[in-house]
Amino acid sequence: MKSVLIVGASRGIGLEFATQYAANNWNVFATARDEAGLGRLRALGADALMLDVTDPAAPARLAERVAGKDLDLAIINAGTFGPRLAAPDAPAMDDFDAVMHTNVFGPMQMLLPMAQGLKDGGKLAVLSSKMGSKGARTSAGGWVYRASKAAVNSVVKDASIILASRSITCAAFHPGWVKTDMGGADADLTVQESVSSLRHTFLQLAAEHNGGFFDYDGTPIPW
Ligand SMILES: NC(=O)c1ccc[n+]([C@@H]2O[C@H](COP(=O)([O-])OP(=O)(O)OC[C@H]3O[C@@H](n4cnc5c(N)ncnc54)[C@H](OP(=O)(O)O)[C@@H]3O)[C@@H](O)[C@H]2O)c1
Repeated sequence: MKSVLIVGASRGIGLEFATQYAANNWNVFATARDEAGLGRLRALGADALMLDVTDPAAPARLAERVAGKDLDLAIINAGTFGPRLAAPDAPAMDDFDAVMHTNVFGPMQMLLPMAQGLKDGGKLAVLSSKMGSKGARTSAGGWVYRASKAAVNSVVKDASIILASRSITCAAFHPGWVKTDMGGADADLTVQESVSSLRHTFLQLAAEHNGGFFDYDGTPIPW
């Protein structure tokens, strides 16, 4: 039986990953921040863990649950959009800190325990965003979120260099513009469409994709 870890799976894209992998008979480890989220995951048959990626105690708690589990795939999905400001409107420092802690510090501190749970040759996917791409940028809206996703793309690249020694493929992914609490009702894709396509893309991941940045359908995205 294949196994997957999804960090940040209480709702939206993360919950849909848990739903689809469970439906395909994968062993699912998943995290949420409250009892309601944990309940939704347990209802799918997942091994659910209470975890906030910004909590300094989170890495040890996750390592305790997944180290040595020989996971095939680990996904860091947790993310927040933060203030809907465009350049040059400076964010409040607390708003800036909340976005950076969740979207950058969170992945930085979760990568080691996630890697400890993965088998050699496994795959590590980070949910980034095309909004973090400088090469594809045509707008300055949501600039705190954009900065955070550009930063996490750097984190992914560093992780890919280190994890190559264990033949782990580590890459950043844009899920499309998806109808979730974050994406809103006008988004292009249903959460089912996005996750179904991402799952297919993850299946195709090979060593040559290590350290890359890809759209949900596998198309490379410029940094
Ligand atoms: N939707 C889109 O169009 C879109 C586009 C590009 C990229 N993305 C990225 O895709 C990922 C999922 O997005 P989504 O649309 O599903 O967002 P969402 O509906 O807002 O859900 C966000 C998820 O992240 C979790 N989370 C937030 N802060 C966390 C923390 N500190 N610790 C642990 N979990 C935390 C939330 O848990 P709680 O329920 O506890 O808050 C929730 O499960 C994000 O990284 C997002 O940036 C989304």
